[in-house]
Amino acid sequence: MAAEPLSNGATHLLVPGRYILPVHKRPSSSVNGKGALPVVDLGGDDDGRIAEEIVRAGREFGFFQVVNHGVPEEVMGAMMRAAEEFFALPADEKMAYYSNDRKKLPRFHTSLRNGTGEEVLYWRDCLKLGCHQPEWLDKPRGLGAALEPYTAAVRAAARRVLRLTAIGLGLEEGHFDGSLSGSGLMNVNHYPPCPDPSLTLGAGPHCDPGLVTVLMENVGGGLQMLLHGDGDAGGGGVMWVDVDAAPGALVLNFGHQMEVVSNGRLRSAEHRVVTSARGARTSLATFVWPEPGCTVAPAQELVLAAGEGPLYKPHSYGEFLGAYLAEGGVKEAAMAHLKH
Ligand code: OGA
Ligand code: NI
Repeated sequence: MAAEPLSNGATHLLVPGRYILPVHKRPSSSVNGKGALPVVDLGGDDDGRIAEEIVRAGREFGFFQVVNHGVPEEVMGAMMRAAEEFFALPADEKMAYYSNDRKKLPRFHTSLRNGTGEEVLYWRDCLKLGCHQPEWLDKPRGLGAALEPYTAAVRAAARRVLRLTAIGLGLEEGHFDGSLSGSGLMNVNHYPPCPDPSLTLGAGPHCDPGLVTVLMENVGGGLQMLLHGDGDAGGGGVMWVDVDAAPGALVLNFGHQMEVVSNGRLRSAEHRVVTSARGARTSLATFVWPEPGCTVAPAQELVLAAGEGPLYKPHSYGEFLGAYLAEGGVKEAAMAHLKH
């Protein structure tokens, strides 16, 4: 049965049954801890040092925040206001974009797939936008105008991070340029207040499929990353920690294709979103993806340098994306399509 979006006018006094997770999938059933998100300052021209910091954070967390990223404050503010205005529109105006067809952009949906094939719904509404060729929406009027400068600036920041990542990995600086980073998409996520956050998740544990994701949020709190005890932070085991970013910073995480290209040196970061009873949260996730026809493979230099052989097989990004979506984003299942 198709699900009605959460932001369509209803006040939620109780969590409807379709959103209640089985006990073992509830946020409290996993280990929750504390950890600091590394800060990478993109300002200055000591590229060698910045590259090293990115690779260190990418190896241990797959997550970091960037400051002095070059996306102007007013561009970020205008984009966030337009996103908030979209979710405040009357239901019928948003429903004009409601669809199950993942090829359709812009597309408004709820949970992962509007409830189709989903056992439990996630406490999230989402507007998907094409950001390589910004799509115009009639409503709200400001969204199309805010989107172009925002995506251009965010993609420029991501390009710089990708060049630094290539340097840090010992690859040619332009390794990720061109078709490897030529596509993308934006999730404008909206998490309304939830009457009982212990029963729900806004997004289940997943990794993003592409190279890198750039996230901006209107209020802190909600996003969590899975911390692995095998890193320098130590201790063994895994635990969920809050991703707390400084005001004005952007949060970056690496996706599956970065783990592939780096032959496992950089971590495709597992993350999830917890809900809050206090207020709504809106976040914008800009995904930098390979083009669908692009063949992605571990970088030859890395495979040869370590003499370790490729951990992943060459694959078409478009085909992987189909498999990823079918697996609901679960890391092991998605990676099984890529492993040798
Ligand atoms: C996503 C995502 C995190 C957030 O859209 O893939 O993980 O904080 N979003 O909304
Ligand atoms: Ni994600």
